[in-house]
Amino acid sequence: MASFPTILLLDSGLGGLTVLREIVKVRPDARYIYVADDVFFPYGRHSEDAIIARVVPLVGELMEAHRPDLVVIACNTMSVSVMAPLRAAYRVPFVGTVPAIKPACAASKTRRVSVLGTRATVKREYTQALIRDHGQGCAVTLVGSPDLASLAEAALSGNTVSDAAISAELEPCFVGAGQDASARTDTVVLACTHFPLLLDRFVRLAPWPVNWIDPAPAIARRVVDLLGPAGSEVDAAGAEMIFTSGRPHALSQALMPFFDGHVPA
Ligand code: DGL
Repeated sequence: MASFPTILLLDSGLGGLTVLREIVKVRPDARYIYVADDVFFPYGRHSEDAIIARVVPLVGELMEAHRPDLVVIACNTMSVSVMAPLRAAYRVPFVGTVPAIKPACAASKTRRVSVLGTRATVKREYTQALIRDHGQGCAVTLVGSPDLASLAEAALSGNTVSDAAISAELEPCFVGAGQDASARTDTVVLACTHFPLLLDRFVRLAPWPVNWIDPAPAIARRVVDLLGPAGSEVDAAGAEMIFTSGRPHALSQALMPFFDGHVPA
């Protein structure tokens, strides 16, 4: 394994930055290639077959160009569709991002959990199987959001996103009598990597407080399991951000915090 490993992350847009920022904390010495497949955004509107046909060759091209030591699929919608075909096609280690149903159901005291993802993620058999295998008897409500990922992109790009637009997408997550804290949703899985970008707004707009489960720290731990902990020296190679559309990113200030202060090339 290279002493400064190259880690490639792939998402449909800016959502995977919420995974990147956790990985950068535990491997600040690695070189990062962040790829946003904005040509195909939003993934939540595509079929499983279309996602497999898009992502498997794209990852092959990216591996050829960047020779990563590890690939993180920093997108739930991709991961619930394409992890098995990717692992069958390529030898590099992959880490996926899938809905954190097991820890959410283990943590819920009211046994009422909601999974907030894209429409595609909540429909997939992979997600249904996670509930069957790890639901632990909880009542799990699946909420497929049509627009939150686009709203999160807009907000991070500096555009105004109204509270009403966010509240409308959050509302179906809150099940049960608002006044009876023992019989209402107490845990919401953030099953789309874009959603933690709006977490402050979610907390403020929620009709009652809940525990929001973001899988990114667990993904960072998995990366350390596979690559080992950070070395003592910090790599000078830094980070690169690529949009498949070829557009330059004009967001250096907004993106720097995700890259631990590095300006992505
Ligand atoms: N970030 C992606 C996810 O985690 C979804 C956004 C999209 O629809 O492209 O599911």
